[in-house]
Amino acid sequence: MPDSSRLPLALEQLLCAYCAGAMPAGVALMQLSMAASNAEELTTALDMHLSRHVEDGDPSTAHRIDELNALISSSPDAWQTVRDVAAMLTHEPAQHENPEAAVRHIAAAFDRAVSISPEGSVALYSLGRRDLLEEATSEVVEFMSSLDLVGHDRVLLDIGCGIGRFELALASRAGRIDGVDVSAGMLDLARRRCAGHQNVSFHLCRGARLPPFTPASFDCIFAVDSFPYIVQADPNLPRLYLEESEHLLKPGGDLLILNFSYRSDPGADARDVENLACLNRLEPLRVGERPFQVWDGRVFHLRKAHRRLA
Ligand SMILES: C[S@@+](CC[C@H](N)C(=O)[O-])C[C@H]1O[C@@H](n2cnc3c(N)ncnc32)[C@H](O)[C@@H]1O
Repeated sequence: MPDSSRLPLALEQLLCAYCAGAMPAGVALMQLSMAASNAEELTTALDMHLSRHVEDGDPSTAHRIDELNALISSSPDAWQTVRDVAAMLTHEPAQHENPEAAVRHIAAAFDRAVSISPEGSVALYSLGRRDLLEEATSEVVEFMSSLDLVGHDRVLLDIGCGIGRFELALASRAGRIDGVDVSAGMLDLARRRCAGHQNVSFHLCRGARLPPFTPASFDCIFAVDSFPYIVQADPNLPRLYLEESEHLLKPGGDLLILNFSYRSDPGADARDVENLACLNRLEPLRVGERPFQVWDGRVFHLRKAHRRLA
């Protein structure tokens, strides 16, 4: 039996959090892969954790660890993919001369990441697996649908669209979708994946501004896991993106931000989004909820007033 006293602390803490239900299996395996120095250390850590808790007679832990072991067995490349993609995408705040330089740096990182693993580059918790990414995408699309944000009469804008997974999933359920991104590599793949969908267009945004769309022309603007990079590029950028979003939304239109930052401080994210909403006359409808099963993304749902307030 493995000696459980030798389980590295970071792995033990993650396994305890996962077994307590703090995160889905894909997210846990992503975080464990970043913390373990190799794939073998990861599986040994699971064995140690399991043997310790089975001794304690804890059946729910055994069940959660079985789930994780099954995911590891069906994802033999997970550790390597997570490490390779994560090496491209640091979540540390950038030190650059200006926001444009920071955004260029992030764009270049995503250009490299997408060439390693398209699925991993947009959602590392997919572990580079197409089926897991599709499952996560469907969950978000059904959530958007439950909020009445999609429909054949709706015009949508996706900020930081990546490889176009939402455009592909929503093309047959929306009137028109525009996807914008700073990474030319991401957009190349998005265009190839969505070729044939006449109601989908992609646009490269350079620097720190959105392309010049018609004011008040979108029913819904959404951003899935892209705001953390906007926050990372420059703390003032989210304010500009929210100002532009408000300008581009129709009266009564919705702004849906899924994950605002990677600061691991949900309280600070909630305060920042509420302040930004207030500054831009957007009503916060949902702030920081975590409604998903396969992803731990937090929801920030804001709505533009029907009539401009005095
Ligand atoms: C983690 S990926 C998510 C992609 C896509 N939203 C998805 O969920 O599949 C983040 C994306 O945001 C883009 N991005 C980063 N900074 C951006 C910015 N300032 N403006 C627009 N897109 C940005 C990146 O190039 C990348 O494609």
